Amino acid sequence: MSKFMDWIDARFPATKMWEDHLSKYYAPKNFNFLYFFGSLALLVLVNQIVTGVWLTMSFTPSAEEAFASVEYIMRDVEYGWILRYLHSTGASAFFIVVYLHMFRGLLYGSYQKPRELVWLFGMLIYLALMAEAFMGYLLPWGQMSYWGAQVIISLFGAIPVIGDDLTQWIRGDYLISGITLNRFFALHVIALPIVILGLVVLHILALHEVGSNNPDGVDIKKKKDENGIPLDGIPFHPYYTVKDIVGVVVFLFVFCAVVFFFPEMGGYFLEKPNFEQANAFKTPEHIAPVWYFTPFYAILRAVPDKLMGVIAMGAAIAVLFVLPWLDRSPVRSMRYKGWISKVFLLVFCVAFVILGVLGVLAPTPGRTLLSQVCTVLYFAYFLLMPLYTRLEKTKPVPERVTG
Ligand code: HEM
Repeated sequence: MSKFMDWIDARFPATKMWEDHLSKYYAPKNFNFLYFFGSLALLVLVNQIVTGVWLTMSFTPSAEEAFASVEYIMRDVEYGWILRYLHSTGASAFFIVVYLHMFRGLLYGSYQKPRELVWLFGMLIYLALMAEAFMGYLLPWGQMSYWGAQVIISLFGAIPVIGDDLTQWIRGDYLISGITLNRFFALHVIALPIVILGLVVLHILALHEVGSNNPDGVDIKKKKDENGIPLDGIPFHPYYTVKDIVGVVVFLFVFCAVVFFFPEMGGYFLEKPNFEQANAFKTPEHIAPVWYFTPFYAILRAVPDKLMGVIAMGAAIAVLFVLPWLDRSPVRSMRYKGWISKVFLLVFCVAFVILGVLGVLAPTPGRTLLSQVCTVLYFAYFLLMPLYTRLEKTKPVPERVTG
């Protein structure tokens, strides 16, 4: 075996990569459960790719046959139903895991220097993931696929001067048609997965260049032993590979329970109108995007003017990109920040969830007002951050991690 590895290592840095990223990658010893979500995101990514490849084998990307081919997968293809439910549940699981992963970043200031690029690559992954999910949703060619895409693509029409041409260019037709379905299929199964995979590699390379943050936000590289190993670091393998298995087992319990017992999740993971084939002449009574887009959809609807709404929605995502430069706190982790930061983060999370709920519901004057309040709170968290992180009193950060 060692002779074989010598042969490989003389030609390819296999052992070096194993050591750099696993057996000699020293991670802080105080990771908590919130650090499971990065590896869980990787697991879901693999699930999406594997089940996606097998679904593609039986799916027909044409307006005439797409809907029926999904029914064929569900009823006639052997284990087709499980492939589809793994993929559709995986889409929602991806966003749950990624939102918790991002929340961990907010909580412990993981986006701060020197991890700005880790965050930026993460944000690019998030954008690509949203595009991937949006395009995937058109493929089953159900009523919500069609009308959801119709609403979102028509938003580009609000852009002055180029709006109409741009929407036509995206659709490839005067209205959503088989041509749109075909190009979304190409982007969903080839282009975007490649982009996402590439970004994930960059994300992890950037992280391993600077090292992981931790719940204390303490820089473990400051205190090293005589061999140059961080005193508060432990090798990723075997310690965290084994620990991550605990997260994987818990995750798979919940994930499989959904796949086997609640694959539609009350209409949130698979929406009811999507069991009816797309019909350009019949608008569903109530059109709402899938739950993971609804916070941003609620921000869009909170603004009365269409163009300003689109700008607000874009800004809600764009502002996350500049987060590393908005936080001026001398400390990273929420454990040592002042109470104002804690209140703002809590209010932000509550506002985000309320927006998510409002985005699912049909608008009423009361709900619109609430979504306007939550939109203001959403932006206040970011835009006031340079002020409150500088002014508030922070607690002293310990020299070593506390556990
Ligand atoms: C496909 C999606 C993603 C995958 C597979 C992924 C994977 C990972 C992995 C494996 C880690 C190291 C383990 C951990 O710290 O949990 C990590 C760390 C990190 N990720 Fe992601 N990630 C994804 C999306 C994102 C997104 C959307 C963001 C934020 C915009 C993000 C921000 C971060 C940050 C800041 C860290 C460093 C955390 C720390 O050291 O405290 N990631 N990611």
